[in-house]
Amino acid sequence: MRNTTDKIQRKMLYAVSIVLATALILLIALFGQTANEMNAMTQLVGDRDQTNPEPARTSANRYHFVLIVEENNHPYWNLLSKGAVDAAEEQDVLLEITGPFRSSLTEHANLLDKAITAMPDGIFVQGLDDVAETPLINKGVEKGIPIITIDTDAALSRRISYVGTDNYQSGLKLGQYVAAQTKTPQKIALISGSKGATNQRERVNGISDALKGTGHEIIAMGFSNISRVQAGQEAEKILKQYPETTMMIGTSGLDAIGIYDAVRRTKQEEIIIYGYDNLPETLNLVSSGKIKGTVVQEPYEMGRKAVQLMLDYKKGSAIPSTVYTDTRILTAKDVKQP
Ligand code: BGC
Repeated sequence: MRNTTDKIQRKMLYAVSIVLATALILLIALFGQTANEMNAMTQLVGDRDQTNPEPARTSANRYHFVLIVEENNHPYWNLLSKGAVDAAEEQDVLLEITGPFRSSLTEHANLLDKAITAMPDGIFVQGLDDVAETPLINKGVEKGIPIITIDTDAALSRRISYVGTDNYQSGLKLGQYVAAQTKTPQKIALISGSKGATNQRERVNGISDALKGTGHEIIAMGFSNISRVQAGQEAEKILKQYPETTMMIGTSGLDAIGIYDAVRRTKQEEIIIYGYDNLPETLNLVSSGKIKGTVVQEPYEMGRKAVQLMLDYKKGSAIPSTVYTDTRILTAKDVKQP
């Protein structure tokens, strides 16, 4: 009987020792793994401290860039965003796109400030209101976020690069084209996207510089807030107030279409119209001669190029401080089917 009890006790002791030994082995293994992970993390943080180049990113650790557009769901900005999204997808970058519901300089600046607070790996933003946004761009760059201006530059800021149209030159080009094509002196009204936006001001300056001394005269100006409806309303107001108007030029993407709405409504289709961009409806109106010509920009290319440049920068390559994308003037002969 005694013998049997001893045997049972020995067996129990043996089983307990095995359980304890297994637990010990597991604990040691777990500790080893955690130590490895901690090492890897320290490495990552350490690598991040070096300015350039950054460690290669994986899907779990991909770059996070933010693109701030002038207005959400606007056809011009949808094209630009598509270029950025395509490049981001190819390179496995997480791209967040944000923008005001309706174009607003204040909200645009607020969104930039908010994006800076989130500390992404890079920001793309229009230098929409260069005076108000330059200090914000500088703040972001000082905090270590590379910022690329897109579509509109803030040339005096510390942005690392600008990708987009040379807006002043594009206005000059359009003004010179108008002057060369139109010998009869014109009374011209301009509809601009906004009074405060840098690119709109630069375009207007370019157009008016080109028209100086040509006999053509700018007699009125309205602002559309980049809305087709508002462009139409402004154009209609001007046509009433300045019946001598013979030509109207829109300087943002939907202005010429809005101007055409107004001349059709008021039955003044003899008014000559010029505009910007080649959104589908603009192309239709150009091909039918209702809009005489339009300055074509490269929004898709701007978005694509900006993402590529940001990645080059993150990898430690030197990038150009300005990348001007192409502009050209498109008229009916360029869009008409042969
Ligand atoms: C300008 C953009 C603007 C858009 C509005 C374009 O011509 O480059 O800055 O937001 O027009 O339609």
